[in-house]
Amino acid sequence: MNAVGDRAAPLAGRTALVTGGSRGIGLGISRLFAELGANVLIVSRREPSLTEAVRTITEAGVDPGAVAYRVGRADSEEDADASVALAVERFGSLDILVNNAATNPYFGPLTGIGRSQADKTLGVNLWGPLRWIQAAWEQYLRDHGGAVLNISSTSGTAVDPGLGWYGTGKAGLIHLTRQLAMELAPGVRVNAISPGLIKTDMSRALWENGEEELAATMPLARLGTPRDIAEAAAFLCSGAAAWVTGQTLTVDGGYLVRPSS
Ligand SMILES: NC(=O)c1ccc[n+]([C@@H]2O[C@H](COP(=O)([O-])OP(=O)(O)OC[C@H]3O[C@@H](n4cnc5c(N)ncnc54)[C@H](OP(=O)(O)O)[C@@H]3O)[C@@H](O)[C@H]2O)c1
Repeated sequence: MNAVGDRAAPLAGRTALVTGGSRGIGLGISRLFAELGANVLIVSRREPSLTEAVRTITEAGVDPGAVAYRVGRADSEEDADASVALAVERFGSLDILVNNAATNPYFGPLTGIGRSQADKTLGVNLWGPLRWIQAAWEQYLRDHGGAVLNISSTSGTAVDPGLGWYGTGKAGLIHLTRQLAMELAPGVRVNAISPGLIKTDMSRALWENGEEELAATMPLARLGTPRDIAEAAAFLCSGAAAWVTGQTLTVDGGYLVRPSS
């Protein structure tokens, strides 16, 4: 395969591990990666949503042997080590790690957040991605190379009311991406995506009572879908992005470039 790979199946023969891959953006990424030829290991906390995700992906025509799941938590060191080991054991490699799982237990001003909510948020959203990268590096990436993708947020760049601590963690993830791109080069590329508002369970409170009004504020006139993020993820994790590292690609329908009123 050349640097770009087969354009019809640019992830053929690669193995991807997607945290939080059972729903929303993670499911969109898992499904598209599988459609593009990758083996995919999906990790999240709840088995019912994992089995449903595997059913959805295989019903789309993907070889059932190319999709597996494991129950695990994004902030668990043991789950990071064991999930990476399972991917390598099951598929023979771990070429792509997508750190997608995140949590947001607190909505409100920074002056009101308590220690346990603050620790929980950063434990899952910032320490978690680093710990999974450490596991993947130790067990596979250091010797074989590959690609890491961290899912950040426009809240890591913009100032969004109520999302200050979540956004602080997501800003940290953008810096973590740059730092690790330097530390893990030349074998491993590390990039991030900052999604804008995507219609998923996590963001439901923001869009379910007023989607049309929100869409009208977006330059591209609609909310995002998991597929919008998955397409960008496929590019960053494929050979087409062989000379791209340390970058955060904003995929937000123009949210960050809308006119200020
Ligand atoms: N939706 C948006 O508008 C938006 C915007 C910007 C950035 N993002 C980012 O995009 C990513 C995905 O968000 P989403 O909207 O797709 O969320 P979602 O629809 O709520 O899905 C979250 C996924 O992560 C899993 N998960 C949650 N907590 C976990 C944990 N501690 N350990 C392991 N798995 C966990 C969930 O499955 P289980 O419940 O089975 O664990 C589920 O598969 C996150 O990093 C989020 O910050 C989202």
